[in-house]
Amino acid sequence: MADKVIIFDTTLRDGEQSPGASMNKDEKLRIARQLERLKVDVIEAGFAASSNGDFEAVQTIANAIKDSTICSLSRANDKDIARAAEALKGANSARIHTFIATSALHMEKKLRMTPDEVFEQAKLAVRFARNLVADVEFSPEDGYRSDPDFLCRVIEAVIAEGATTINVPDTVGYAVPELYGNFIRNLRERIPNSDKAIWSVHCHNDLGMAVANSLAGVKIGGARQVECTINGLGERAGNCSLEEVVMALKTRRDYFGLDLGIDTKHILAASRMVSQTTGFVVQPNKAVVGANAFAHASGIHQDGVLKARDTYEIMRAEDVGWTTNKIILGKLSGRNAFKQRLQELGVQMESEADINSAFTRFKELADLKSEIFDEDILALVSDEGVTHEHEQYRFVSLSQRSETGEHPYASIVFTVNGEEVKSSSDGNGPVDASLKAIEAHVKSGAEMVLYSVNAISGSTESQGEVTVRLQNSGRVVNGVGADPDIIVASAKAYLSALNKLQSKADRVAAQG
Ligand code: KIV
Ligand code: ZN
Repeated sequence: MADKVIIFDTTLRDGEQSPGASMNKDEKLRIARQLERLKVDVIEAGFAASSNGDFEAVQTIANAIKDSTICSLSRANDKDIARAAEALKGANSARIHTFIATSALHMEKKLRMTPDEVFEQAKLAVRFARNLVADVEFSPEDGYRSDPDFLCRVIEAVIAEGATTINVPDTVGYAVPELYGNFIRNLRERIPNSDKAIWSVHCHNDLGMAVANSLAGVKIGGARQVECTINGLGERAGNCSLEEVVMALKTRRDYFGLDLGIDTKHILAASRMVSQTTGFVVQPNKAVVGANAFAHASGIHQDGVLKARDTYEIMRAEDVGWTTNKIILGKLSGRNAFKQRLQELGVQMESEADINSAFTRFKELADLKSEIFDEDILALVSDEGVTHEHEQYRFVSLSQRSETGEHPYASIVFTVNGEEVKSSSDGNGPVDASLKAIEAHVKSGAEMVLYSVNAISGSTESQGEVTVRLQNSGRVVNGVGADPDIIVASAKAYLSALNKLQSKADRVAAQG
């Protein structure tokens, strides 16, 4: 049997560090359940000591998820580590991931610590963590830019203290594949007890090489854990993308010769869920999960694929969750057909009540739209099962007037803590008027830094999916809304962003 590569998903921790991608506990739990369906080996559920919200999210996920190991990040100090262990108490399988920066630049400028102090702190942190859980991962932050001699000293010591996984982060995305692979191989060759731990790669995508570097870390360096995120979500240019690295290892098994535990047919649903929850739209030409990833526009390609699909396709679309029959349901479809379609799309609802509520919304949508596509279903169920009790604002209805030569005008009804309010405004266009009408009442003072509309299924009959990014007092949040009427979708997205701005932000930055 070939070696296995452990897939460590950090969408809920490193992914969430992207500006505006923060998620609440219910959203994180939903994504964690999807990651479990995907059979991800380790889910990094958050950074328990960073805020009460993160603690609760890690705790909730640890209690709910049974098949994946649940991990919490922790700085290399007893207080953070104890908090992580506390949050992980209910987990079937728990891991503490502790880290401290080891590059000269980070030690001197950020930590203001000497190498000897960092060495001691790393050792003590791993020792303390090992007294609380059996599975401890250690990361030398900015590892790839660290002095290899110093790194060897630190890693040998933490393995001696009982670290079971050693992760070598390319924190700033500076590595190139061959050099990164060799870097890890040299560390493994030089450190006498290196075989006592599993080696892991953690690559950022600043130069667009996170996936290539991770694969080189596996192939050349001998790493057997890859840290990655759905859609490559993450700070700056993001992290290594789970779907790409998994499909590369699977499709080119002839070259890598390694096994994976991932159930790839749940990849697309995971990608849609993360995109709709965070407001980070997936580009159409994104490998594996982009709308065009399996589309053949040119006549020559279409002809080839019809004759023999492997002329132009190296993976089967169905293997990652794309379905072949695009038009799925309509107005007359029943609850059973709807439920079956959800199963085929890899969407598992938590309760019959969630299915009923999603089905009601499906019927409402079918009244507005004659053909319902898979993408519509995925958008529709994206926040089913997520409780809304903490939401201050909810959309109720909207009317607007726009005509060539006339000034657009909108009137909107929404609830504020359950109480209906009505507000109206004019604006440069109907969307502008609608959002100004909301703002006229709410007076958030937030600055809009991004507004984007995406057609969910690619025609004018499609639902519009709108992302609004707001910034206020140093906080950045994304709101997402979907509706066949893009003005309504815009209002929903704006209200969703306001709700996120409202939620408390008391979080400590992991690498700050
Ligand atoms: O990029 C990084 O260095 C990290 C560590 C905390 C593992 O995310
Ligand atoms: Zn990172």
